[in-house]
Amino acid sequence: MRESKAKPSGSATLTYDNKKYEFPVFSGTEGPNVVDIRKLYGDADIFTYDPGFTSTASCESDITFIDGDKGILLYRGYSIDQLAAHSNFLEVCYLLLHGELPNKKEAAAFDHSITMHTMVHDQMSTFYRGFRRDAHPMAIMCGVVGALSAFYHDSTDINDPRQREVASHRLIAKMPTIAAMAYKYAVGQPFVYPLNNLGYTENFMRMTFSVPAEEYKVNPVLAKALDTIFILHADHEQNASTSTVRLAGSSGANPFACIAAGIACLWGPAHGGANEAALKMLEEIGTVDRIPEYIKKAKDKNDNFRLSGFGHRVYKNYDPRAKAMQAQTHAVLNEVGHGDDPILKVAMELERIALSDEYFIEKKLYPNIDFYSGITLKALGFPTSMFTALFALARTVGWIAQWKEMIEDPHQKIGRPRQLYTGAAQRDYVPLTKR
Ligand code: SDX
Repeated sequence: MRESKAKPSGSATLTYDNKKYEFPVFSGTEGPNVVDIRKLYGDADIFTYDPGFTSTASCESDITFIDGDKGILLYRGYSIDQLAAHSNFLEVCYLLLHGELPNKKEAAAFDHSITMHTMVHDQMSTFYRGFRRDAHPMAIMCGVVGALSAFYHDSTDINDPRQREVASHRLIAKMPTIAAMAYKYAVGQPFVYPLNNLGYTENFMRMTFSVPAEEYKVNPVLAKALDTIFILHADHEQNASTSTVRLAGSSGANPFACIAAGIACLWGPAHGGANEAALKMLEEIGTVDRIPEYIKKAKDKNDNFRLSGFGHRVYKNYDPRAKAMQAQTHAVLNEVGHGDDPILKVAMELERIALSDEYFIEKKLYPNIDFYSGITLKALGFPTSMFTALFALARTVGWIAQWKEMIEDPHQKIGRPRQLYTGAAQRDYVPLTKR
């Protein structure tokens, strides 16, 4: 079980209705202190009000830390730029799940366990046939991942640490297989089984792009770029989809159902769907001379158009992942010979103009991770519809690490927010004849 590491750090006083209420303040390793208001409703008979949770900490966590003003992102204390430069995705999965980088023996055991869980029950292929061929891959991911709980009953008891571990490994291992099958189903090609002698990301690329008619050779430069992209997307504190997974998990739902809930939330264009939306936006802009027209739309209060790939709830400085992603974009485009892709030119010019425009500076709108990921994933050969499925593939380890931390927290309770009710006061029923 996880023990709290919050350090008492004084108190905060609330004066309400001529009464004073004291609440304890706690501090963590980094970031703002928190005022513990768990007794507020019981003591003062009022709720806090914070739609969108802009000022609310929903939990204590050791996993990821973001400093939005300094543009810092740490996984278990290690900075994202160091992990992107020196680590690999499976090692980052181990780090997020266990809190420490693995030694050689631990890494080998973890890689072996993940490799041994990459296949899905063969009856799952029948499940795919129930979808239309043009189903969005995220619709398939929501359905198929939720359906895993119908196949793996032996790892749904959330109170058994061993079953929690097996479910975590199954999810990390099977997401590439499930995502590749969604792609193959969409393009009408046969499903490709994983190969145990390939690495995690190489295996995924082969399951996605190989065809039985010829040998498939993984391009190491592209595999490395995709592996880095997975690292950049692995976890991100209490974002919308992670909070969805925690809330679903707080009711005791099994891990497969919780991850399916996270996939559904990630799909939204304000969240994980932004990479797909950002590329569509760049393609719609098309040429550099049309950028001012779109900047104007983004600034127009009466136009709900927003620049996809810009802005962030937490980062009010450059998203550190966007920098690392931009490096991968150039590596991939040069490798595939699209170094002068016109869409890249639009992206670079849009970024330059936006970062010098008063509106974006005042609102602290910088490119986020989704701004460059779409261009990179397209150059890697993925259709736009697969972009968010790839985000879900990578984020599964973050979701499951956060779910595990919540389950092991002795103080966790079912999530059940309250509200400010502004509806009709109590009134009597009016029979139809009198309406
Ligand atoms: C991800 O939370 C996470 O960590 C998410 C994520 C992760 O790894 O899990 O980082 C992944 O979801 C990245 C974000 C991807 N989404 C997009 O790129 C979509 C475009 N961005 C916006 O929808 C928006 O910036 C959000 C949703 C990302 C953040 O919204 P907030 O924090 O609620 O901010 P806001 O909507 O209140 O915007 C503040 C102001 C507003 O103007 P005012 O009402 O104050 O006048 O900035 C404006 C907004 O209109 N604004 C934009 C804008 N984003 C915000 N104006 C133009 N273009 C934009 N992109």
